[in-house]
Amino acid sequence: MQKLNQIAEQAVLSAEQAVSLQQLDEVRIHYLGKKGQVTEFLKSLANISPEERPLIGQSVNQAKETIQEAIQKRLEELKSAELAKRLAGETIDVTLPGRGHAEGHLHPITRTIMRIEDYFTQLGFDITGGQEIENEYYNFDALNIPAHHPARAMHDTFYFENGLLLRTHTSPGQIRYLEKKQPPVRMIALGRVFRCESDVTHTPMFHQLEGLCLDKNICFSDLKGILKDFLQFFFEDELAMRFRPSYFPFTEPSAEVDMQCVMCKGKGCRICKNTGWLEILGCGMVHPSVLAPLGVDTDTINGFAFGVGIDRLAMLRYQINDLRLLFENDIRFLQQF
Ligand code: PHE
Repeated sequence: MQKLNQIAEQAVLSAEQAVSLQQLDEVRIHYLGKKGQVTEFLKSLANISPEERPLIGQSVNQAKETIQEAIQKRLEELKSAELAKRLAGETIDVTLPGRGHAEGHLHPITRTIMRIEDYFTQLGFDITGGQEIENEYYNFDALNIPAHHPARAMHDTFYFENGLLLRTHTSPGQIRYLEKKQPPVRMIALGRVFRCESDVTHTPMFHQLEGLCLDKNICFSDLKGILKDFLQFFFEDELAMRFRPSYFPFTEPSAEVDMQCVMCKGKGCRICKNTGWLEILGCGMVHPSVLAPLGVDTDTINGFAFGVGIDRLAMLRYQINDLRLLFENDIRFLQQF
């Protein structure tokens, strides 16, 4: 009996001192489990006389009950402590000011592109992208720039080892489009182009907008009209334009277009290098040598094409004075738009 009491006392003490549910469970197993101390105690009494048996049995049951009660009590204590701890950790201070949420926004180039697309879709132009990796056929040959033509050297081309290249302009988009669709066509192709050059006004990657319009009876004044209207829409301003004769192998006649400087309105400033004019695009009437191989009847069909520097438009519209800023992704710069 003394031994039984000792076991029960120890058990109650261990239960009270248990600091976790797991430890408490270990106490339970240690004393009340199948091989626990109380059970072992019972086994040690195998040869006890039948008279004593009921008394001992009662005592063992009592001891078991005491231990169980102690464990149950500790279990509840531990559980409520755990709950209190969890609740403390989950408290929300509803009086704190909200975190707010920072909204992102579109890159100035993306906004420029969307603005361009807005204008041309209104006029019924298809929008395409072409592909950034091209071969010499689409980037040069099909555009009437045969091998050894000096115009090839003017494009500082990035070549891959397998004969492919990074497109130097969006004009290959004209060819790809005409392979799928015969005139009448109106389309713009926008995207990245690549040239191996880098300084204040040049980055190795920049963006172009290509336009192509072919139909019966299209003439140079249609080209002038659409460009003037586009620039007015884009800059929301009545800006003077001037056409300078130029040369592109894939257009004839060809022109480069200057726009009155949006910064100084033609007076002359740093941006326009004191000329009052900004060069923004190349254009012309599509050369029959480009159209004929694509199956276009050049006796009845003609039209114009133009290629605009999108980054230039963005710089002018958002008053950015260094082209490189557009591609450095400096958050302090981008946040200004
Ligand atoms: N592809 C020419 C360039 O990158 C621009 C251009 C396009 C000129 C279409 C005429 C017609 O310089």
